[in-house]
Amino acid sequence: MPSVPQPKLGVGLLFNPVLPEFVTSHADAFDYLEIIPDREWSDRGVDATPRYATLDASFDLFRRVRERKPLLCHSIGLSIGSAGLFDLGHVDQINRIQTELDFAWHSDHLSFARLPGEHEMHTAISMPVPYDQEVLQLIKDRVEHIRAEVPCPFLLENNVYYVDAPDQEMSEPEFLNRLARESGCGILLDLHNVYVNSRNHGFTPESFLRDLDLSQVVELHIAGGDDLLGFYTDAHAGPVAEPVWGLLEDTLRAAPAVSAVTFEFHESSYPMLKTEGIVAELSHARRIWDRYA
Ligand SMILES: [Fe+2]
Repeated sequence: MPSVPQPKLGVGLLFNPVLPEFVTSHADAFDYLEIIPDREWSDRGVDATPRYATLDASFDLFRRVRERKPLLCHSIGLSIGSAGLFDLGHVDQINRIQTELDFAWHSDHLSFARLPGEHEMHTAISMPVPYDQEVLQLIKDRVEHIRAEVPCPFLLENNVYYVDAPDQEMSEPEFLNRLARESGCGILLDLHNVYVNSRNHGFTPESFLRDLDLSQVVELHIAGGDDLLGFYTDAHAGPVAEPVWGLLEDTLRAAPAVSAVTFEFHESSYPMLKTEGIVAELSHARRIWDRYA
């Protein structure tokens, strides 16, 4: 996919429920808005007709933003790594809102969270897929379907993992490299996820970035985390973690196809960040973007 250059969008913001006011009053602070569509609709279940009901207030806002800025779609509900489930209705729904909001690209996570069965269950956190040939083929086939159905580029994001899966056939960078080259999806590289995994599993983020084919990376995520029970987590807690700024510089210097840098924070940390904090993080990212992109 990165063989087709994407437009340089700049520095953007992942939308969350505390941001409608900010999006309107500080439109100059971000170049594009990334939305999580699954948070803006209710899913009545696969057997319901119509299955989805979108939230009017959010979509009114997105349509207004779209008149002036690009939108990106970052879904959390596909669960592309669930071996026994591929939700074609979810892909259809992404296609419907793509028709309306004209995303520059859409993305989801290289992970699984949904467990099919008589009563589908949810793991509550996004679980990493095993890095082996069988899973690679499964996900490549699904990417092919998604790319045929939704007429804009598709990216997959590297995940966090808190427990090492034994006897993997490939390393994470090797799996991502092959997936991108063989399926045509781009990589959404979450630099904070790399930092989280490096802290919890004792490798250096620089070695991960050396092994990853950075020419396949289209978008970067930056965020902050938290310490919990001996782990460092991807809690999206407030400002960007300090070491991630250095990783952003290193990556932008070496990754010519990167088109966008997105700041993510969880709405629960808004009382700590406040409007000034969001502006400060976006400005910091923009200074680095302007230097390297
Ligand atoms: Fe992310």
